[in-house]
Amino acid sequence: MHIRPLTDADATDYRALMLRAYTTAADAFTSTADERAAEPLSYWVRRIADPQGLGVALGAFDRGALVGTVALEFNAKPKTRHKALLIGMFVDDACRGRGGGRALMDAALACARARDGLTLVTLTVTQGNGAAIGLYQRCGFQPFGVEPMAILTPEGYRSKVHMALVLSASAAA
Ligand SMILES: CC(C)(COP(=O)(O)OP(=O)(O)OC[C@H]1O[C@@H](n2cnc3c(N)ncnc32)[C@H](O)[C@@H]1OP(=O)(O)O)[C@@H](O)C(=O)NCCC(=O)NCCS
Repeated sequence: MHIRPLTDADATDYRALMLRAYTTAADAFTSTADERAAEPLSYWVRRIADPQGLGVALGAFDRGALVGTVALEFNAKPKTRHKALLIGMFVDDACRGRGGGRALMDAALACARARDGLTLVTLTVTQGNGAAIGLYQRCGFQPFGVEPMAILTPEGYRSKVHMALVLSASAAA
């Protein structure tokens, strides 16, 4: 699988992939497919390449088709611009278990490390999502708390595990 940053030209495919994500892995995400389907294409373009440089999205391509993605959101405020939030991690069902998720994480973390002053990446993951939690732990993320009743699904409330990765040891001192 080939990993590269998404560009404006990928917006339609990115939208379609994320709508599949919200539909087929509904409990993994806070947004619903209906909510996101109502967003204009400009919303997806902004997620791919925020005009203020406060976001980036990466894609995993299999024989030219976009089959996986992950995104980072950055902060502009002086007191929080050392932090990034990792969001929207998804690999199409048929392409899982082939290293795409790990390759996307590695590329996202390389992006985070390359950003001046960025020292912490956080994410949230639905409790019980073993594939995602295992992947994040293997990338060095550690859980630091659990938010109870974080999302309401048709089967009831689900908690979210909050995880963090400190990018430089000196920053944690
Ligand atoms: C989480 C997800 C992105 C992983 O994608 P993937 O392409 O299968 O990931 P990889 O092939 O790189 O596998 C990553 C690791 O997870 C492991 N893994 C795969 N499925 C697993 C499972 N069901 N339980 C535990 N570990 C699992 C793999 O063995 C691999 O381990 P390794 O790094 O030691 O080799 C994918 O399962 C997915 O899209 N899930 C639905 C959406 C989702 O949950 N997103 C996360 C939102 S927070």
